[in-house]
Amino acid sequence: MPVNEKLAASIRAIYDYPKPGIVFRDITTLLGDAAAFRTAVDELVHPYQGLGVDKIAGIEARGFILGGALAHQLSAGFVPIRKKGKLPHETVRVAYSLEYGVDEMEVHVDAVKPGEKVILTDDLIATGGTAEGAVKLLRQLGAEIVSACFVIDLPDLGGRKKLEALGVEVRTLVE
Ligand code: PRP
Ligand code: ADE
Repeated sequence: MPVNEKLAASIRAIYDYPKPGIVFRDITTLLGDAAAFRTAVDELVHPYQGLGVDKIAGIEARGFILGGALAHQLSAGFVPIRKKGKLPHETVRVAYSLEYGVDEMEVHVDAVKPGEKVILTDDLIATGGTAEGAVKLLRQLGAEIVSACFVIDLPDLGGRKKLEALGVEVRTLVE
């Protein structure tokens, strides 16, 4: 079976969560499957080997799980992008909207130095509102965003195109 089909088979669909009409793509089943988790991390890391990436920025919460693994594999640092009010030091903040709501997120002002090469990661891109907010924050700190990667793309919701329009390369494993 092709790698993307194996990964897709390890992801669970939950209907009407967190709101009626939403099909929630639940990666906890992928994460709990040792072979699938390893494959997903290996596939995400592969194109970035040797690029001299300084930092992986992961979006709370599921982006932390993938981001930590990617940072380890690429010998890069890890930057948490968190929902508002969670980070203890001085932050920059942005409001954003996603498939099923609105929120605000933050990053520490000193999490990235100007010119550092950063890869943004999360489990899934849907409307791209969340990732767009993260790109704005990282660029405010002077990051060079090398790429953004996600396990899952929901192409009908347009997130990939939104990020590409901002000049960000997008890599995903499963539609
Ligand atoms: C989910 C997902 C992405 C975002 C994608 O996170 O992990 O961060 O939605 O949606 P978008 O492309 O429409 O912006 P969620 O806000 O549910 O947070 P969680 O990881 O803390 O559950
Ligand atoms: N974030 C936004 N839309 C989502 C979906 N359908 N499943 C999981 N996470 C999401």
